[in-house]
Amino acid sequence: KKVVLAYSGGLDTSAIVPWLKENYHCEVIAFVADVGQGAEELEGVEAKAIASGASECYIVDLKEEMVAEYIYPTLKTGAIYEGTYLLGTSMARPIIAKAQVEIARKVGADALAHGCTGKGNDQVRFEGCFAALAPDLKVIAPWREWDLTSRESLLDYLAERNIPCAASATKIYSRDANAWHISHEGGELENPWNQPSEQVWMWTNSPEQAPNEAQYVTLSVEKGQVVAVNGESLSPYQCVVKLNEIASVHGVGRVDIVENRLVGMKSRGCYETPGGTVIMAALQAIDELVLDKASRKWKATLGGEFSHLVYDGRWFTPLKDSVLAGAEALAQCATGEVVLKLYKGQVTAVQKQSPNSLYSEAFATFGADDVYDQSHAEGFIRLYSLASRISALNKSTK
Ligand code: ARG
Ligand code: SIN
Repeated sequence: KKVVLAYSGGLDTSAIVPWLKENYHCEVIAFVADVGQGAEELEGVEAKAIASGASECYIVDLKEEMVAEYIYPTLKTGAIYEGTYLLGTSMARPIIAKAQVEIARKVGADALAHGCTGKGNDQVRFEGCFAALAPDLKVIAPWREWDLTSRESLLDYLAERNIPCAASATKIYSRDANAWHISHEGGELENPWNQPSEQVWMWTNSPEQAPNEAQYVTLSVEKGQVVAVNGESLSPYQCVVKLNEIASVHGVGRVDIVENRLVGMKSRGCYETPGGTVIMAALQAIDELVLDKASRKWKATLGGEFSHLVYDGRWFTPLKDSVLAGAEALAQCATGEVVLKLYKGQVTAVQKQSPNSLYSEAFATFGADDVYDQSHAEGFIRLYSLASRISALNKSTK
């Protein structure tokens, strides 16, 4: 029997390797997704997996594909979960699950395993994707089965088996990082009355410590995708990396929210999405220029729908294709250039232009113009408000 485990090198998945072998009498193949979590987490991860008892370890570089095929399409819909969360963890899950299934096929595995707790969203996302891509494979979620519920018990479990582990008994926060964002949960954040301490934040300067000088950055957008930063053409992943570097210095992209998990409970999370926050501001600025009122309203509907689809782990569904096709149609005119000002935690689009702009100074001016006949507005307003007029007249004659 063979099990492919989504392995991170952290304490939980390190303990899962021997636990699977003992409880399922199987061979364990470690699968590590490189989604841009950083060199620190990936360093020595293969040796760790083998030391834990895995028979093989596959590290798969998913960075470019994740940004190009999962994040950029999601951005075209404008999806933001519950108005604030840029979906960093949620968007990474489907591509990790897909790559894990591919490894399982390659090695002829019978089962897939993950280290998500039984309380969160991630278990639903992984298993939802597994169901769509590999309905024949068994899924093992040790957290829902074992009684190793504290860090101490996990460390003891490894020590009893002489498995080396650099993890410490005190790790305050649960974090999840990829190219797009880093999330923080747990510790003092579990009480929403506690302000996050500065130790929570890993990527961004605090706005207080950000430079006193604003920085300007120019993004070029083509059909709803950022293609260049300050005139330099970059791949989707490289755009995100570059903008993370720039925006984190200015403390841009921190959010602190209480959100609704799919499993019903509320949870408190802090997120840092510096580059993503800049990209989102640029795409919104282009939309302001190019989308008419009804199209913007429709896009907000698409984005709202898609935020739940991604958060709830429904990536591999016909609904995903349908919403993305709708967003792609609207993105055809989303081309242009935006200059953003980064200053003390804020990003503001201060200059915007598009060859497809519907904005016309000639029409909008408060000065004299000869293109818009104001007398046309009178008839429009009379018909537009006709129903109100009839209803009010009815009442007054009763
Ligand atoms: N609450 C966020 C989400 O559901 C972040 C989850 C972080 N996951 C983790 N395994 N630490 O998308
Ligand atoms: C987990 O429970 O494994 C992390 C948090 C989440 O999935 O929502």
